[in-house]
Amino acid sequence: MRKLLIAGNWKMNHAVAATVDFCRDLRSLGLEGQRAEVLLFPPFTSIAAMVSLLQGTPVHVGGQNLHQESKGAYTGEISAAMLKEAGCSHVLIGHSERRQYFHESDAGVNAKTRKALEYGLTPVICIGETLEEREKGVTNAVIKTQLSGALEGFAPDAVRKTVIAYEPVWAIGTGLTATPEQAQEVHRYIRKFLAEIAGDDCAELLRILYGGSAKPDNAEELLSETDIDGLLIGGASLKADDFYRIIEIADTINK
Ligand code: PGA
Repeated sequence: MRKLLIAGNWKMNHAVAATVDFCRDLRSLGLEGQRAEVLLFPPFTSIAAMVSLLQGTPVHVGGQNLHQESKGAYTGEISAAMLKEAGCSHVLIGHSERRQYFHESDAGVNAKTRKALEYGLTPVICIGETLEEREKGVTNAVIKTQLSGALEGFAPDAVRKTVIAYEPVWAIGTGLTATPEQAQEVHRYIRKFLAEIAGDDCAELLRILYGGSAKPDNAEELLSETDIDGLLIGGASLKADDFYRIIEIADTINK
């Protein structure tokens, strides 16, 4: 049985003042007794405030990116150790916006995943096809390339420590959500591929999140699908009540 994971990716939104408000609102809604695991990825400068304001709650905090080297002359970058020291337990790797605007490659995603694991951070590895790729019918091929690139050379034990986020690029921030059936089909394919590279046990345990215009209105139908083990939420994670609503919905899912 995989525990559902509800994660919020704030992207470049919510500086410290807005983070303080959000955390107060979220705490006031109640953060105890949820069955789902909860995770937030604030911008780097808001991590410390969030970690301190959500202390004592089960909410995990993660970084939105990291550099693949441990330290050194990489102006503007952030290391795994820095995230760890700031209180992060997770890190987002290879988000489609990083791939698109900062030219991150599968090899880079692989190196970053390796570094995250070395420092005990849980990598949340993002993969997903563009609209053009979906229309060409090459979705599975794209997924396979991204996933094998990200996890090449990893033993099943290492693969087991990751979380995969399937985010069709055409659904991110567009209001277009993959239908639950479309998402389930790709999630199933991902799990089958994980079984091939890391074995059935690992594939059964690993959580695969869906991301792309997930919100309170569609959370239930997405989370009801067999192979959707959680959500990576952008826009709808910025308001505490929307985010909380999704956590509540996750808690009603029995599968
Ligand atoms: P969205 O973003 O929910 O705003 O579509 C999801 C993501 O990019 O992780």
